[in-house]
Formats: sequence, structure tokens, C-alpha cells
Amino acid sequence: MYLQDVTWPEVEGYLSSRDGVVIPIGSVEQHGPSGVMGTDAMVPEKIAMEVGKESGVLIGPVVSIGIAEHHMSFPGTLSLRPSTLIALVTDYVNSLVYHGFRRFFFLNGHGGNVATLRAAISEMHMQQRLKPSGCPIQFDMVNWYDLDEVAKLRKQFYGEREGRHATPSEIAVVQYLRADLIKDGPLIPPASYQGEVHGADDFKQKYFDGRIGSHAEMATPEQGRILFDTAVKGCINKIGKFLV
Ligand code: NI
Repeated sequence: MYLQDVTWPEVEGYLSSRDGVVIPIGSVEQHGPSGVMGTDAMVPEKIAMEVGKESGVLIGPVVSIGIAEHHMSFPGTLSLRPSTLIALVTDYVNSLVYHGFRRFFFLNGHGGNVATLRAAISEMHMQQRLKPSGCPIQFDMVNWYDLDEVAKLRKQFYGEREGRHATPSEIAVVQYLRADLIKDGPLIPPASYQGEVHGADDFKQKYFDGRIGSHAEMATPEQGRILFDTAVKGCINKIGKFLV
């Protein structure tokens, strides 16, 4: 069940027996020479929509722009300030709280969002607590690529060549979801991991084409299909323990 595809009476009906919602969140940022900018938003959005179809849980619209300051030296990257993302997520959730939702599950596609998302969750807990009639609300979150079953597959398919950014696994999922977005893979090896980055310029200096140790050319749509189906199952399993 996807919020943007239903009517208000359908939402009202849903709320008569359930109070949980899944909110996909991602980023628009460079993904190396063969990965599209929307990778981190598209993947959790599509996983969430499939989860919604299979489990009946309500899926909210994707928060497609996140925290990507360290990718800003690559053209096309968009970034929110952490304070903006906290405000956006808080308003999104508070709207749903007003209607009666109480449990919120973030399905995240971008590591750079994690710290700010945790801060937003603390902020929302505190806001609710300080209200005279504040009702209890609960949050859970997962990065789709960290689901146990998905992490195992990533290792099995790519080993060390998975790398840390613009990885073959996420590019494979996009190839599966959108054949029209398959790009020619880079012919040169990626820069290997050289430790923490200190801002966007340092990122580009260390990781010249945007990849961090990731052999994106290994990605295939078939691997993407297996990763996607596994992520959907893993997510339903995790959500089932929280939202039902
Ligand atoms: Ni990514």
C-alpha cells in the first residue's frame, strides 16, 4: 500500500487496525562513472514499494535528498544541511502522528544519512515527551545493504571488490530495476580505500572518479534481481517484528 496511490478513506481504513508506516530515505549524489545519481533513493524506494505490495504495510513517499556534503565536488550532487533533514523528517512524521500513526520504520539507502536520522529520531522522541498529551511513538531503521541476508550476498558476489561507495551491489540493483539506466562500466580500477575523508575536496582528491574501492563493472542485472528479492524478504522479516 503506497500512500500516494490511495485515497483518504483507504488511509482511514488502514488506521482502524494498524499504525505503522515505512519511510524510504536516500540521497541524490554521484555514484562513480557508471552509477546514476538517484541510486540511493531509488533502491530503498523500490524495495519499500515491493514490501508494501507483499505485506500490506503502508509505504510513505521517499525522502530522496539526504546528507551528501562530502560528495559535493562531483557535479549534480544535492545535499541538505543536517538541520534541514531533521526538520523535514520531523514534519513528515508529525503529519502522520497527527493522523494516528505511531510506529515508523526508516528504510535507508545512504550511509551519510544515518547520524542525522538518529538525531531526528531523538528530536522527535523528545518533542513527543514534552507535549502534555504526547502519545508514545516508536522508530526503527535499517540500511537495506546491511540486512544480514543482503550483506552475505554482497560478500559472496563481490568480496573485497564491493568497496565502500558506488558499489557493484547497489549498481546491480539499479540495473535490474531500470535496464535503461545501464551505463558503460569504467575501464580503470577504482581508487582503493585511503581512510576517512575530510570534506568534499579531499574526497575527490582521494577518490578521483567517485568510487571507493568498488569494482562497479562486476554488476549484472541478474545479481541485482537476487539482491533486490533478498532485500525485500529481509525487510519484511525485520518490519514484521516491529510494525505488526
Ligand atoms: Ni550509494
